[in-house]
Amino acid sequence: MKYTLLSLLLLLVLTLNAENKHSFLRQHGTSTSLVVNNKPFIVLGGELGNSSASCIDDIERIFPKLQRMGLNTVLVPAYWDLTEPREDEFDFTLTDKVINQARENNLKVIFLWFGAWKNSMSCYAPQWFKEDYKKYPRSYTKAGKPLEIASAFSENVFLADNKAFTKWLSHIAETDKEYGTVIMIQIENEIGMLEDARDYSKDAERLFKSQVPQTLTSYLVKNRKTLHPDMIKKWGVNGFKSNGTWVEVFGDDIYTEEIFMAYYYASYIERMARSARNIYDVPLFVNAAMNSRGRKPGEYPSAGPLAHLIDVWHCASPTIDFLAPDLYDKGFSEWVAKYHLNNNPLFIPENRLGNNNGVQAFYVFGEHDAIGFCPFSIEDGSDLPSYPLTQSYNKLNELMPLITKYQGTNTMNGLLFDSENKERVLLRDGLKITARHFFTLPWDPRSTNGSVWPEGGGMIFKLNKNEYIVAGSGIVLVFENENENKVQKSLGEDGFVEAGGKDIINEGWKGGSRIGIASVDEVMVNKDCSFKYIRRLNGDQDHQGRHVRIGVDEFKILHVRLYEYK
Ligand code: DGJ
Repeated sequence: MKYTLLSLLLLLVLTLNAENKHSFLRQHGTSTSLVVNNKPFIVLGGELGNSSASCIDDIERIFPKLQRMGLNTVLVPAYWDLTEPREDEFDFTLTDKVINQARENNLKVIFLWFGAWKNSMSCYAPQWFKEDYKKYPRSYTKAGKPLEIASAFSENVFLADNKAFTKWLSHIAETDKEYGTVIMIQIENEIGMLEDARDYSKDAERLFKSQVPQTLTSYLVKNRKTLHPDMIKKWGVNGFKSNGTWVEVFGDDIYTEEIFMAYYYASYIERMARSARNIYDVPLFVNAAMNSRGRKPGEYPSAGPLAHLIDVWHCASPTIDFLAPDLYDKGFSEWVAKYHLNNNPLFIPENRLGNNNGVQAFYVFGEHDAIGFCPFSIEDGSDLPSYPLTQSYNKLNELMPLITKYQGTNTMNGLLFDSENKERVLLRDGLKITARHFFTLPWDPRSTNGSVWPEGGGMIFKLNKNEYIVAGSGIVLVFENENENKVQKSLGEDGFVEAGGKDIINEGWKGGSRIGIASVDEVMVNKDCSFKYIRRLNGDQDHQGRHVRIGVDEFKILHVRLYEYK
């Protein structure tokens, strides 16, 4: 009884505390989801190009466009050089403008602190900092060449960066507390060493030759069962040692240097994150440039918040809520899977801007319980209503109450197809759902005339037995009984049996029930998750009950009811 009362009290305190915050992460089933102004939220976002928030006129011009494009959130750089142009003199004009313009255009803001590091480099540090390189030292290559990368080992660098960051954030806290326009903060941008895998400055050398801090070895020992497979492999090389120098514990190669560097970058970020948490309690994250194209540490920004370094980052920077990938290379679905981990929700702060963004967004929310998706340089997109991202965001915005309700329940799947990956089979509750690219159907000339197939994709979620939502663009789905044995004659494009029709497959009919389409309705989703009927799609629009489909040039939400017959 005593314990029950205590737990209730604790729950009450936690709930009240959560309600005081305008933006926070919470566990929902198997997923981590975002809550904004007390409602579950997904970020339908876009990140501004690097220089687009450095000019009042640009901010004024761009934000209304973003609203027309269907965004609910904009990711905006905050520049150290323009915030503290002279040491100890602060100017928040741009930040205020961003927040006000966002409010006027019904947008939330995620600020990116371009402080000591931006894409590895320190180009956003103010001139007074850059010039005083004795006080604010750089990193060095193995050959002793100084880089325009501030040293993560310098207390002076940290103090200067952190001072500007905390002043700036305190200003936001003062002006935004009541409104909650700023919903997350990214600290620095794409941290990482270039040219070599680690810094070779004097301080770095000394620490590299010292013992691995016990914080890290204890963390590895304690979390051994759940470590990232790459970390297990690396740590296992020298027999899972719990003390020793970096080389003794992890071996003598550049990947050990990367782990070392990650530990110290993350330790620096942890101090920034703690400052932030005490000032304005919103989710905090760091973003990473990918280790793609066969590059090695130092060729890609070494030691950034990459998936294979997640344990080092978690250990040294526990206040950071998640690591976020910036995606510009091929293999979108493989990259996103690497960052949706049991201990890391998926949030994509940067994705290459393109006509496939609309279906990519559907995919990550459906397949990975993502909390946000944001193409980069979003202001270069179109604000025509037919722009794929705009169509997609408008539908996802409608779907948000349903998506957030079903996040973490393992009832959703994402679909993503191109001309190479055309099909995916889902087995769910006795059903075999075969989803394909829309151009696997013969009716659109672009499917066979050599045109590049636009990507198709979407999401499917089960509402009840035999009741599904299918949404997205450029997809076709067939529903069958999982155990149905196949007897199928070759059909013409009209669905009739071809003259003299031969069996394309004949496993012999052994009885059992079949699945039919009872109805396919195009719907709008209301805020309470109920549906508003738009139109019935039957006859030619569902191939006389054979499939459910959405064309490549449109985004739709379909409410599908199935039935069984014998
Ligand atoms: C990733 C960075 O995080 C962005 O700021 C930008 O530089 C893009 N790359 C490339 O334009």
